[in-house]
Amino acid sequence: MKTNFKKITAILAAAVLSTAALASCGGSDAPAPVTETAPPAAANGDELIMGTNAAFQPFEYVTENGLVDIYDGIDVAIAKKIADENGMTLKIEDMEFDGLVAAVSTGKIDMAVAGMTVTEERQQNVDFSDTYYTASQVMVVPADNEDIKTAEDLKNGKLVGVVLGYTGDNIVTDTIGVSEENITRANRGIDIVQDVKNGKLDAVVIDSATGKALAEANGLKVVEDPAAFESEEYAIAVQKGNTELLDKINKVLAEMKASGEIEELAVKYNSEVGAE
Ligand code: ARG
Repeated sequence: MKTNFKKITAILAAAVLSTAALASCGGSDAPAPVTETAPPAAANGDELIMGTNAAFQPFEYVTENGLVDIYDGIDVAIAKKIADENGMTLKIEDMEFDGLVAAVSTGKIDMAVAGMTVTEERQQNVDFSDTYYTASQVMVVPADNEDIKTAEDLKNGKLVGVVLGYTGDNIVTDTIGVSEENITRANRGIDIVQDVKNGKLDAVVIDSATGKALAEANGLKVVEDPAAFESEEYAIAVQKGNTELLDKINKVLAEMKASGEIEELAVKYNSEVGAE
């Protein structure tokens, strides 16, 4: 009698528990084991951590209603698609651009999506995905400037601004060879361009799309010199040897290139930035 009562209680308890499990699963056919406490994961429930420096319109910038939290831009849209297609949740870590390669190589972030140009130096520390955007450096100068027409002109005693750790910094410093005392380095394009606006600097050398957005927003103009500024390719950086993630990234990039989606994003975000 006593044993039977125990049995019935156990059966009843199991029935109540599995009903509760069913309810919490939203009526799934295969209820989770009653002992499971973690919420049922969407697809595989992993987080994908993207590191970036969100001061680089139109690729990543901070805005009130961003695509992901307060972040928006071409890179954010691409990264979100990579996460979505793999059933992952995208998390964005905004940091100094100069620290991104180290953050990837130490595993602090899963990938750097930051309009990052593929360079040999960076390839020593991270692996790059297939490229998704072609850019080049441009010079942002005052609208009425007449004497900066080529990169060589920057060596004529001009005061030149760059962003610390950007490819534009290396090009101005090493390739063009502007003398060190004439170079000013800032942490963000937005800040250094103010110095062109207020007459402290003659030019800022920065990536084309960002340079155009900054020039437009500040009443400045862009001067191009394709002979001096070679084209650069943007790609996503992952930890060396992380082929699993790299394959996922390349698959989505290939789809987005084939469907014209990256091109559409570029048009969309370039015009939105210009309109601001
Ligand atoms: N393309 C340049 C580089 O790789 C600048 C990238 C800046 N990106 C950013 N999210 N702030 O150095």
